[in-house]
Amino acid sequence: MFTIIVKENKQDMANAAFEVIKEVLDQKPNAVLGLATGSSPIGLYKKMIEDHKTAGRSYKDVVTFNLDEYVHLDRNHSQSYYTFMKEHLFDFIDIDLNNVHIPNGNAEDFEVEVERYEDELSKFHVDVQVLGIGSNGHIGFNEPGTPFASTTHKESLKESTRNDNARFFASIDDVPTHAITMGIASIMKAKKILLLASTSYKAKAIAAMIHGPVTENCPASVLQSHPDVVIIIDKAAASLLADDGH
Ligand code: F6R
Repeated sequence: MFTIIVKENKQDMANAAFEVIKEVLDQKPNAVLGLATGSSPIGLYKKMIEDHKTAGRSYKDVVTFNLDEYVHLDRNHSQSYYTFMKEHLFDFIDIDLNNVHIPNGNAEDFEVEVERYEDELSKFHVDVQVLGIGSNGHIGFNEPGTPFASTTHKESLKESTRNDNARFFASIDDVPTHAITMGIASIMKAKKILLLASTSYKAKAIAAMIHGPVTENCPASVLQSHPDVVIIIDKAAASLLADDGH
């Protein structure tokens, strides 16, 4: 079931997203959070840091699982998702890094690594999973065509995804070609999903996710069958929905 919240700007989106996370953390200080990287959750992470600094919320018992990591990028590379999480959240809260889970993009054996990650994930039940959405409808790095039954796996990134992410690298050739990602079935196990998207660039994917057919061609459309999905978007991302945001 979708709860769709349309906001004026990024700050309002971040505030609304934080309310969702806050409700979970207020009830359960040892919550399991599924986290995403990319530009969409940055405002939310700022709010979480602010809450830690001003309200004193502790993250020491919180467990996190990130959606994905690039393959063949050292975890200390400036563009690794491990670095992203440290720079945008973990370095500024009191999280125990032993409770942090991010796939190892530099694993020697990826078959072993994807199994290890899924095994670890299956020991927990994610209370809320933060998601962005790709302009092609991907969630995590599950590109169009990924089976809905997929668990954590190594995914070959589409050219459109590599182009979308090229802004973070010196050139398109430097953008990794593969990632390890939680699968669609892994994501769907979360009790609650919080999906964030802004700009008209995401409008088509948002409309397809909400109103399109449930098809592996639009991975996010699978969320139509999840019981609790909060979608927080700006007006531009909502521009292909009806005037009431639905
Ligand atoms: C990131 C991830 C991706 C992004 C998506 C949107 O961990 O799994 O699915 O959420 O590509 O990225 P942004 O937010 O940068 O538009």
